[in-house]
Amino acid sequence: MDVLLGLQWGDEGKGKIVDVLAPQYEVVARFQGGPNAGHTLEFDGIKHVLHQIPSGIFRPQILNIIGNGVVLDPIILKKEIEGLGKFSIDYQKNLVVSKKATIIIPTHKLLDAAYEQSKGDKKIGSTLKGIGPTYQDKIGRSALRVGDILSPDFKEKYQLLVEKHKTTLSFYNFSVDKLEEMEGQFFEAVEFVKSLNLIDSEYVVNEALAADKKILAEGAQGSLLDVDFGSYPFVTSSTTMTAGACTGLGVAPSKIGEVFGIFKAYCTRVGSGPFPTELFDEIGEAMRKEGNEFGSTTGRPRRCGWLDLPALKYSIMINGVTQLFMMKADVLNIFKEIKVCTQYELPDGEKIDRLSFEITDTEVKPVYKTMKGWNCSLADVRSYEEFPVELKDYVAFLESALNVPIKLVSVGPDRVQTIMR
Ligand code: GDP
Ligand code: IMO
Ligand code: MG
Repeated sequence: MDVLLGLQWGDEGKGKIVDVLAPQYEVVARFQGGPNAGHTLEFDGIKHVLHQIPSGIFRPQILNIIGNGVVLDPIILKKEIEGLGKFSIDYQKNLVVSKKATIIIPTHKLLDAAYEQSKGDKKIGSTLKGIGPTYQDKIGRSALRVGDILSPDFKEKYQLLVEKHKTTLSFYNFSVDKLEEMEGQFFEAVEFVKSLNLIDSEYVVNEALAADKKILAEGAQGSLLDVDFGSYPFVTSSTTMTAGACTGLGVAPSKIGEVFGIFKAYCTRVGSGPFPTELFDEIGEAMRKEGNEFGSTTGRPRRCGWLDLPALKYSIMINGVTQLFMMKADVLNIFKEIKVCTQYELPDGEKIDRLSFEITDTEVKPVYKTMKGWNCSLADVRSYEEFPVELKDYVAFLESALNVPIKLVSVGPDRVQTIMR
């Protein structure tokens, strides 16, 4: 099983590349996260944003798995499937859902909002999809799982959990006025989910591996949002790294093959938390505009900045990345000069390149290497040989600094704007 994951703060372009690589695989599987993800695919002039459905769904030969490590919102899944109505996708054949995946219920979303509200200016900037509270219940051993919806006492189990949540919501003085309407949608969506192919996906995955079928695990979010290794507490609530694909699908670590680490040629972050190379000037503004850096899930403007090598090295280390994929190179076309952060300078002047425990709360200054930009369009570039020399230099510099080959460079959102090396 190969794993594809984001090495930064999410939105690196995972959806696009999973769709591009999918023909080489028989199975594509999501292993963590939930509707906080927004994975964009573009082909034949149409743009699609997937939140819960794996990005192999447009390839009819592929089995798409929503694995046990995922948190699933039935309402959003139903809407998503209905939204793809015109593509005549055979969901019985091409999509399966683990019965062991955890369900997001309406009060999880209210709790997410209540927690954020109570944090004031310390808020995480969550997507408000109920991710944190649902994983909290999973680890606290009180959550509902997809398999539970088939049980005759599902409503009682649900009610028990809701009563618990209501106590917490009243502690936070958070209104439950919207709950009744949300519950109507929820139970309707639960009936819909029952009609899907609900399975024990760990068997399907391991039987596929035993039959020498190729599986691609599709990460959501990014390593710098990982609950253990991200800039805690400004993280998501799941294991976004390679190891998460093992627990989130029931696959042994020894079965992991290639680890594709995907990163933007610069950095973006949506939500709060440290971002050493963030640009607050017209350069950052230009990146946001050129890269169309607005959230696929929430529409929020993404914070933008130069590439951060210490952070990238860290992500490569904790994930065991074997191949790097660099995305959105074309966005840097507009710049005469490009900067790359090679170290952080601490307030006392010391220069470091490690992401220590203390770093989240330390104001660090990025130390930059400045490179000449290519400053021309990449729209018609279809092979590495056609790259402008400055882009070749950028790629070569990153490869030598990161010590992992960059095997793919993306120069536009469409499937065809993908250059393999
Ligand atoms: P994901 O969450 O990692 O799947 O990434 P998102 O879909 O949230 O964000 C990536 C955005 O960049 C989407 O709008 C993509 O269509 C777009 N995109 C992907 N690759 C490229 C690229 O190489 N160049 C440009 N300009 N846009 C890209
Ligand atoms: P994809 O898969 C970018 C961020 C949120 C917030 C933090 C916690 O599209 O790359 P959560 O709702 O998970 O509790 O929010 O994580 N975040 C993402 N940022 N891309 C994502 O997914 C994200 N999923 C969560 O903005 O800062
Ligand atoms: Mg995204």
